[in-house]
Formats: sequence, structure tokens, C-alpha cells
Amino acid sequence: MHPRLVLVASVTIGLAVALIGALWSLADGSAQNGPRGAGVKDPDPAAAARIEMPAAATSLPAVRLRAVTAADPCALPAVQQALASGGDDAVIGAFGGGAAFRAAVATGNAPCIDLADPNRDWVVVNKIRPLNPITFAPSSFGDPALSVDGAGSVRSDVAQALDRLSAGADAAGVGSIALASGYRSYDTQVQTYSGQIAQYGQAQGDALSARPGHSEHQTGLAADVVSCAGGCGSIDSFGGTDAGAWVAQNGWQYGFIVRYVAGQTPITGYDAEPWHLRYVGVPLATAYHDGGYATLEQFFGLPAAPAYAG
Ligand code: DAL
Ligand code: ZN
Repeated sequence: MHPRLVLVASVTIGLAVALIGALWSLADGSAQNGPRGAGVKDPDPAAAARIEMPAAATSLPAVRLRAVTAADPCALPAVQQALASGGDDAVIGAFGGGAAFRAAVATGNAPCIDLADPNRDWVVVNKIRPLNPITFAPSSFGDPALSVDGAGSVRSDVAQALDRLSAGADAAGVGSIALASGYRSYDTQVQTYSGQIAQYGQAQGDALSARPGHSEHQTGLAADVVSCAGGCGSIDSFGGTDAGAWVAQNGWQYGFIVRYVAGQTPITGYDAEPWHLRYVGVPLATAYHDGGYATLEQFFGLPAAPAYAG
């Protein structure tokens, strides 16, 4: 080819590559990361804007713009219907998915979503958000296939999610995961908390254990887990195990987040607990993971909760 033709061809190809690059930079995470788990839902057309380029005409991959939350998502019939009779995943789906749900809540655009409802996957419990009622107990209980003596139960759907998590860990070759402590009633937490205070003193005890009525364990959505390969380890050793590393990376795909991670004590009020998993459901856990959040408080735009109000 003549040198000038080569130059023209190179410039043309360069411009085309730059155009494709610009289009990709507009694309959201779902387009960049490719297909994910079943919990990732396409935005509801009523709640989200979506633009797709016809792949056949352009030879480019489909490009989607980020989901846009409806102006008033709580007014959407699909949201109202899901709140009245659907499950939590249905509500989040009606908002347009986990990211749109989070954005609406965090910006104060979702007054129909009560982050204090202990029956919902999105409940936030911390040192300044006690359970309401203070003696709340879940309405269903289930036991995962693997648990250590005295672990108790969790909410029944959480038990099933733990089974899937353990199977995923097994399949990844990091051993199984067993429940070490699940639901703890208000009265049980009285014992747990007072034991920690007696052993470590007030300040350190408060960094390790929630006061009664302030523990996620009382919702049935929290699971302290251990790694089992042959025998089972302790919760304290979990973070250093292959299973602990795997859960930190992959737990979101099963609906779990590690609730108390290192470096976030000024927000959560607790020392890191790699073993304390909080079930939020796959759509919200996916948005949490994709958004790079480290605390549920930041995820929902809530104030830090380093200490009790009184
Ligand atoms: N260890 C956690 C903070 C609890 O007691 O709920
Ligand atoms: Zn825990």
C-alpha cells in the first residue's frame, strides 16, 4: 500500500477506535462486566432510561446508559403493588434494580421505603438505629445445612442463601462455610453483650458486641460464619482462611455483605468482623459490591453511628 494510503487508513482506524472507546466510557458496569447473576435485573422501563445500539447495524456491543431512577418511584404502580404484596426483590426490581433503589433511598426520593422495617432486607440497625420494636423477632426461622453447636437459626430465606454460599465456597475449593451464630433474641443479646463487657470492659466491649436491641443478629439476617475443611475453625480465625477471603470477594453474589470491615469503625462503631455476614439480598448486595461501598450507612446515605445516643 502507498505510504499516504497507509497514513489515511491509520487515521481512520484510530478515529473509529476513539469513537468506540468514548461509547464504552458511557456504558455502565453491567455492560463493562458482562452478564452477572440472576439477581441483576434489567431496569424497569417505567423507572429507568435504557438506550441500546443495534448491534447488527454498528457491529458494536450493546451500550446501555446507567439506570435513571424515576422522578417519584414511590408513585409507580409497580412499586406500590410490590410493597403491598411482593417480596423485597420485587420492590427493588420495581425501582429499577439495586443501584436505582439505593440512589432513590440515599437521596431522600423514596419515602415509601422504611430502613427501620426489621422485616425487610434493607433494614439498617446500628448504634443509633435500634430495632423497632426493641424486642423484635423474625417471623420465620430456618437452619442451614451446616452449623456448629449452639449456632441457632436465621431467617428461613437466609438459611437457604447460606447453603448456596457454602456450596459456592465448596465449588471454589476453599472448603465449606458453617453458621456459628445466627438469630439472637433481645434476651440472648443481654447475655452476649454483658459477657463481652465483663471480659473486655465497657469501651472495648462496645466495639465488639451490640447492646440488646441494637444487634443485627436480632433481625435473623446476620450470620457469624466459620470455615470448615474437615473440622471447623473459629470466627476469630475466619478472616485469615481461604474461605474468609473468598466470602469477602464473592459473598455478594449470594446476597451477603461483610458488615464490619477494617477501617470503618468511625462509621460502624465496631471493630472489623470478617465473620459477620449480613444478608441484604442479591440485588442490594450486587449494588453494594458494584458501587464499592464499605458500610451500609454510606450505601444508604445515613449518618455514621460510632456510639450510642445515650
Ligand atoms: N458483634 C456484632 C456487632 C453484634 O453483636 O451484633
Ligand atoms: Zn455477628
